[in-house]
Amino acid sequence: MLKEYHTLVCLPDEQGIAQAAELLRTGELVAIPTETVYGLAANALDADAAAKIYRAKGRPQDNPLIVHIDSLEMLDGLVTEFPEAARRCAERFWPGPLTMVLPKSKKIPAATSGGLDTVGIRMPANETARKVIGAAGVPLAAPSANVSGRPSPTTAAHVFTDLAGRIPLIVDGGACAIGVESTVICFEGERVRILRPGFVSAEELAEVVPAVVIDSGVTEKLPEQARVRSPGMKYRHYSPRADVIIIDGQKDAFIRYVRAHAAEDNLCCLAPAAWQAALPCPVIDFGADAVQEANRLFDALRETDRRGFAKAYAVCPPKTGVGLAVYNRLLRAAGFHVVCVSEKRATKLPGCAVVGLTGQSGAGKTTVSRCFAEHGFGVIDADLVAREVTEDGSDCNRALAGEFPSAFREGYVLDRRALGRIVFGDREKLDRLEQMIYPFINTRITEKIRGFASSGRRFVLLDAPTLFEAGADRFCDCVVCVVADEEKRRERIFARDGLSDEEITKRFSSQKDAAFYTARAEFVIENNADTAALVEKSAAVEQKIRELFDEPREEKAQGSAAPADPGSADLSGQSADSQTGAEHII
Ligand code: TXA
Ligand code: MG
Repeated sequence: MLKEYHTLVCLPDEQGIAQAAELLRTGELVAIPTETVYGLAANALDADAAAKIYRAKGRPQDNPLIVHIDSLEMLDGLVTEFPEAARRCAERFWPGPLTMVLPKSKKIPAATSGGLDTVGIRMPANETARKVIGAAGVPLAAPSANVSGRPSPTTAAHVFTDLAGRIPLIVDGGACAIGVESTVICFEGERVRILRPGFVSAEELAEVVPAVVIDSGVTEKLPEQARVRSPGMKYRHYSPRADVIIIDGQKDAFIRYVRAHAAEDNLCCLAPAAWQAALPCPVIDFGADAVQEANRLFDALRETDRRGFAKAYAVCPPKTGVGLAVYNRLLRAAGFHVVCVSEKRATKLPGCAVVGLTGQSGAGKTTVSRCFAEHGFGVIDADLVAREVTEDGSDCNRALAGEFPSAFREGYVLDRRALGRIVFGDREKLDRLEQMIYPFINTRITEKIRGFASSGRRFVLLDAPTLFEAGADRFCDCVVCVVADEEKRRERIFARDGLSDEEITKRFSSQKDAAFYTARAEFVIENNADTAALVEKSAAVEQKIRELFDEPREEKAQGSAAPADPGSADLSGQSADSQTGAEHII
């Protein structure tokens, strides 16, 4: 049973510090401010006191605690090794937001080290923290003073919200100066490995030690069974109740994305306050640079809860310097949900918006493309473009013939089957082919977009199965993807192309999964029902796109007339042509 406390909040004055020290000496818990976040402190040498921390926070037993010291003397006897690289780091960064993982001595109980034979040591810079450690006279184990899984606390009020009734005392030292937790490192010889990024950046560490590596767990989701060097990295973390989604892209792309999703319920953004005027939902100020973002992050996440938002779109912090620490925390708060909106994407042609259309085979792109065409969109079919650029004797064929001579006949005539035999099943050769052919295709696409724009088209649809892989999303103002369950796609491809199960499996194996598309596209159309439902969904998305670009729908009749642009005359047959590779939905 958890003991119930009447939680007091005291000032960081002499009396408050004496009260905190007394409680700590008698094996109790006290929340204290540090320069990073508030810590929930206990005597690090007392196994029972350390065990209370896990209970109060609801923290998994195998997640080790950081031990806080106020001087190098206090380090004596706590660790069995203190390598040269650690000494240099201490000289440069202590006191400060750096935690070093070192081999522990027997003095540190297993309860403190989470059963590991190492211990994380940090000498905080915050005056109050140092005074409390000094007055208690023992090293203090202190994880962040939040309930496990919640955003870390950067004010005494945050601590009170999470832990009132579970601990006797909170020392209120005001808002934390930095706002994200310390950098956690371990040593591999002279080399330093960053287990958790923090205010002390990889770049700064590299000034002191010969080599710095950033552990893959910092920005990647670890597989279930992975051996974890820093146990804290594997848990769901920093999460408010709202769904957090990171939108990775520049300001314009961010704003466009959120505007496209404005109809969603109870939405907010974590973005610079100055963007409010351009955004359709409340903005929680996330600051304008990485240092401010570090400072604001946890309070901003908690504010989504205080105000009851259901969803928060967050700008993506830079992935360098202290930005990496913010990104690492935000990734976990978002459960690794990141949408990449291309940075280069933005209308470069005044008056003409380009919409990308992509997705897996059998998902239903062709039907969607036909709907858009009927409503006046100029359509560019990337598969057709690929055929055009590889016509007999083309520059592209000349370039490819140098690399794949056996796929060409006299006069640079491409033998498609021969080329297929060379590249399918050989990832490296396929990559090489794509690298060579995409620039030719993209140049032709640009010409076609210009052609449509100069003939007065307001909207162009670029239908490309490998839109993202080819980098052609950079031509688009927004992207629509069509996805469908594998069984549905199989049925459709079977009915359309008469391929065997095995052939379909082979085709699927070279394609990306649905998540690849949904993580990158502004609009997702799920097509698991019939064509009528798909047509309806297409129309709804088209409507949203028009609203996005402030354009009412054009009359249907207008759409069927091909634009007077010679460069795109060859597109007229795009909507019903099985040799082109364009898809048909049954
Ligand atoms: O800034 C901070 O470090 C704050 C303040 C209060 O000092 N403390 C803090 O503690 O963030 P906590 O427990 O929330 O995070 C400790 C992190 C966890 O990710 C844990 O896995 C890692 O440090 N860690 C601690 N000891 C370790 C060890 N021996 N080996 C590997 N990782 C360790
Ligand atoms: Mg923590």
